[in-house]
Amino acid sequence: MVTGKKTTTAVPQGPQAPFALATPGIRIAPSLLAADFSRLAQQVKLVEDGGADLLHLDVMDGHFVPNISFGPAVIKSLRGRSRLFFDAHLMIAEPRRYVEAFAGAGCDSITFHAEVSDRPQDVIAEIRMHSKSVGVSINPGTDVAVIEDILPLVDIVLVMSVWPGFGGQAFIDDVLPKVERLRELLGDHQRIEIDGGLDEETVERAVSAGADTIVAGSSIFHRPDPVEAMRRLRALADAAEEQRR
Ligand code: DX5
Ligand code: ZN
Repeated sequence: MVTGKKTTTAVPQGPQAPFALATPGIRIAPSLLAADFSRLAQQVKLVEDGGADLLHLDVMDGHFVPNISFGPAVIKSLRGRSRLFFDAHLMIAEPRRYVEAFAGAGCDSITFHAEVSDRPQDVIAEIRMHSKSVGVSINPGTDVAVIEDILPLVDIVLVMSVWPGFGGQAFIDDVLPKVERLRELLGDHQRIEIDGGLDEETVERAVSAGADTIVAGSSIFHRPDPVEAMRRLRALADAAEEQRR
């Protein structure tokens, strides 16, 4: 071996799921969609050093949702710069087809939408084959009943509290009964992630209903001090979680 030369091209991975997901408590997941795309690496470092638990990565294909964001190449380049748990939210029409690409890019969890998968077990099997944590997401108009059969197979249920596609929308309170129902159905080892319109005003309601993993884009990255914004969200979420128990 030639010393001093890099001999591996292996993609670094984030911390393993047992550390990032399985221990109890609130997790804060800044959504990169709201970051400044001209300096993504610095934005990731800012929230990583500032205490983020997961990095939420919104992948949009222009089919399942009207918007297009970023894909595996961008995620892979950030993977080389960060130790954060990479939480991929695939808002794409054919998730199974792309699991390998997102796993290879260094995602730690892969969440797909129930609305696009008539055979969700196959998508789950594909994600497990790549040893990644599995998430399933439901839109505001999708009932918990649609995913009830597959709940034992997933690590995360991502409840959309806005219609997916864009950041900065208003929180939809009508989804909260679904969060309550999921809390009844899921085990302690499974997470309820909530995504869309989470801020200092809405986070307590989401956590009181049973959410434990908080995705926030605008209310972190669009604030003058994103680290302080994250701290405030965490403090409010921790207090609401304490009350709920
Ligand atoms: C919306 C995305 C969200 C979005 C949230 O389709 O799934 O993750 O980034 O953005 P905010 O927090 O601004 O509502
Ligand atoms: Zn998302």
